Amino acid sequence: RIHRQDYTPPPFLVDSVELDVHFNAGEVLVSSQLQLRRNPAAAAQPAPLQLDGQGLETISLAIDGTPLGADDYRCTSSTLTIDNPPDALTLTTQVRIDPDNNSSLSGLYRSKDGYFTQCEAQGFRRITWFPDRPDIMSRYQVTLHADKASLPVLLANGNPAGSGDQGNGRHWAKWEDPFAKPCYLFALVAARLDVLRDEFTTSSGRSVQLAVFVEPGKLDQCAHAVDALQRAMRWDEEVFGLECDLDHYMIVAVGDFNMGAMENKGLNVFNTKYVLARADTATDADYQNIDRVVAHEYFHNWTGNRVTCRDWFQLSLKEGLTVYRDQEFGADMHSRAVTRIREVRALRAMQFPEDAGPMAHPVRPDSYIEINNFYTSTVYDKGAEVVRMIETLIGKEAFRRGMDLYFERHDGQAVTCDDFVAAMADASGVDLTQFKRWYDQAGTPHLWASGHYDEQARTYTLTLSQSLLASATAANAEALQSPLHTPFHIPVAVGLNGAHGEDMPLMIAGEGSAAGSGRTTRVLSLTEFEQQFVFEELPAAPVVSLLRDFSAPVILDFSWSDEELAHLLAHDSDPFNRWEAGQRLASRLILAAAEDLSVGRPAYWPQSFVEAAARLLEHASDDPAFAAEALTLPGEATLAEEMTVVDPSALHDARNGLRRFVAEQLGNALLHCYTTHADDAPYQATPAAAGRRALRNVCLSYLGELHSDEARALAMRQFESADNMTDQFAALATLAQDDCQERVLALASFYERWHDEALVVDKWLSVQAASRLPDTLAVVRGLLEHPAFDLRNPNKVYALLNTFGNNHVRFHAADGSGYHFLATQIGELDRLNPQVAARLARRFDRWRKFDEPRQQQASFALEKLHSLAGLSPDVREIVGRALEH
Ligand code: ARG
Ligand code: ZN
Repeated sequence: RIHRQDYTPPPFLVDSVELDVHFNAGEVLVSSQLQLRRNPAAAAQPAPLQLDGQGLETISLAIDGTPLGADDYRCTSSTLTIDNPPDALTLTTQVRIDPDNNSSLSGLYRSKDGYFTQCEAQGFRRITWFPDRPDIMSRYQVTLHADKASLPVLLANGNPAGSGDQGNGRHWAKWEDPFAKPCYLFALVAARLDVLRDEFTTSSGRSVQLAVFVEPGKLDQCAHAVDALQRAMRWDEEVFGLECDLDHYMIVAVGDFNMGAMENKGLNVFNTKYVLARADTATDADYQNIDRVVAHEYFHNWTGNRVTCRDWFQLSLKEGLTVYRDQEFGADMHSRAVTRIREVRALRAMQFPEDAGPMAHPVRPDSYIEINNFYTSTVYDKGAEVVRMIETLIGKEAFRRGMDLYFERHDGQAVTCDDFVAAMADASGVDLTQFKRWYDQAGTPHLWASGHYDEQARTYTLTLSQSLLASATAANAEALQSPLHTPFHIPVAVGLNGAHGEDMPLMIAGEGSAAGSGRTTRVLSLTEFEQQFVFEELPAAPVVSLLRDFSAPVILDFSWSDEELAHLLAHDSDPFNRWEAGQRLASRLILAAAEDLSVGRPAYWPQSFVEAAARLLEHASDDPAFAAEALTLPGEATLAEEMTVVDPSALHDARNGLRRFVAEQLGNALLHCYTTHADDAPYQATPAAAGRRALRNVCLSYLGELHSDEARALAMRQFESADNMTDQFAALATLAQDDCQERVLALASFYERWHDEALVVDKWLSVQAASRLPDTLAVVRGLLEHPAFDLRNPNKVYALLNTFGNNHVRFHAADGSGYHFLATQIGELDRLNPQVAARLARRFDRWRKFDEPRQQQASFALEKLHSLAGLSPDVREIVGRALEH
């Protein structure tokens, strides 16, 4: 276990790296020449030189040209130690590696069309001996040698510095990266690929050559990625004044990839899922994800690469900030409100459960066993929320000044989250000392609010208090070495709604009227455990709108009446809170119904909810994308967090019961909305057109709840006639929930049509794994044997197995069959790819929230997995924590 507090500067620095990589049949030879020198900033006491390695077969070692004798060094399977090195030296090593058999997809590995790398976090040590830590930044020169016919494309970071033939059908290419970088940003590619080239001229007039490399034959699916890249480049100039520093910016797409994408300097490697798109193969969601991931990796060039992390505990320094930046990019490209809504929906579905479960950890973790397990929703998404709260507290302009200062101070350095916050504090003059608690403390804070209107005084008193729930704190006792009893600094954005939906003035007692007049939202700083805010000069009682735009990642408790929520849903000027009011109403009803159903009482659905939904449908044309979000009920995993003991079938039946009730009551309105929002024009991926499709497809899925011949025919018609994947897949997803002949026909014809498009086959797998039908586990088991499935390919694993693990009602089956199935698969997969196996194991996080018999089944499955011989540290850490807490 590695602890954040144990950080010490590296004893040696590496100024330059020269690599020669020879791709031979059945092996790769890597020769490396490192220029090393003692770190002047390191401890005075001379430490030995230590390098990391993994799976390397060492052929030769030399210092300053002299081969090392057996007494000159010590070598284990993971470290190479040289005890009395000179203060400056050239270390030459030659190793043999076996990327053809590297199923972990970390380091250098083989995929269908050639060889690719993934070095973050600690993959570079699988390529050559190296002090593998992000605070060592070096200049790289790389020469690749390979067979020309089978591996025609040879790439590495930086600029081309020569290439040619070397006889025997082999060729070579040399690349030079002018920027010093940590080794986790190293990349190379030797493959057979097609390329789409373009160009970008920066605001100062520099020309950047863009290139997107893809599997042969897929050039017609690259245009959107190039377009997204150009938009992201322009946006970063306009919004943050950040220009591209490269002459060449390359993106390589590969079908075997553990995560989404990787920001290697000048040579991003991407999961094909976030590059390839064509109207008939990719959905609107895919298009938007491509925008975001392309932008994310591009933004890393400044937030991550130019300024990087001192150690891996600081991961959120680059990830939280870069997610915040890609969120803002997304908000500027699409609807800001809908973008925010989707992000909060995802945060509640993923990060809140994480923060309440065995893997709860601070945005800046205190310790880890396997760093790859900490590429989490907390580090990424809560990290982005923390950056966003800073922006909310200090204001947009000060935030920009803070970014400028951050780059002015730290360009070319490996720094910490403290350095980032210090730049923000210094640029704004705002004291962020207390705010930094967000980096150190795991768990989602609860915010309790109550309000009181005094008719006589014409004041509204808002009382806010905060706490961390006992369950959250117990779950991460280890993370709580820092004093528990200090409150967070929480920005609470508030508005007051009048009887007709208008925003009321926000005058706070003691501030003078100038401060509040003209503003419809104010950000209150909650810094104590409890504080009161008094709003003055209010002629009537307001309906309070709290945490507008989700100004802090907290769980808010306020006892609005159903009528007040309906009022907010209809009128709040903050679109996020309009949506939020609807979600609250729906949650209330579903949770109450789940309780009823679990004790055999029928569910109760009030007419008022149907009326609210009817109003949404009536006004849907104003903003179809928003209406689609407002009509979508909270998901089962999110709702389950609010239950003390989860009864997944009652919850499932309650949620679908409400959907069915709405469909029965509003069948005509749903059909009308569906019909009137049809597009005659051919597919366009614009936000407006995507919004109309989203709305229609929500209507279709409600109608599907009727299980009527008409609804099935409607879905089948859409499935067959759609000119785009969004509509085709939405129809398939609706049919897949319905035990009917159309389902069988549609699934068969979908596979028949798309079996050659790997990413579409993933959709076919996931739509079956997500089905609520009772035989889903049997179907998933069957699909394991289908030629479409491959346990070695992460996208296939995520599509089939992870989707099943997220299928709340089927994974948590009462008889434990889901648990035993997934645990067995995790064990199998762990022998091939520990990182992906560990991600899959996270589906067990919430096992303690279920009833006793389920807990027994889950713990049995987990214990069995935990006891497997040869289990990876990755899975061991996840399962160990799940069993402990
Ligand atoms: N830095 C990448 C990104 O967020 C993620 C790479 C993570 N890879 C891993 N093996 N943990 O864009
Ligand atoms: Zn990232």
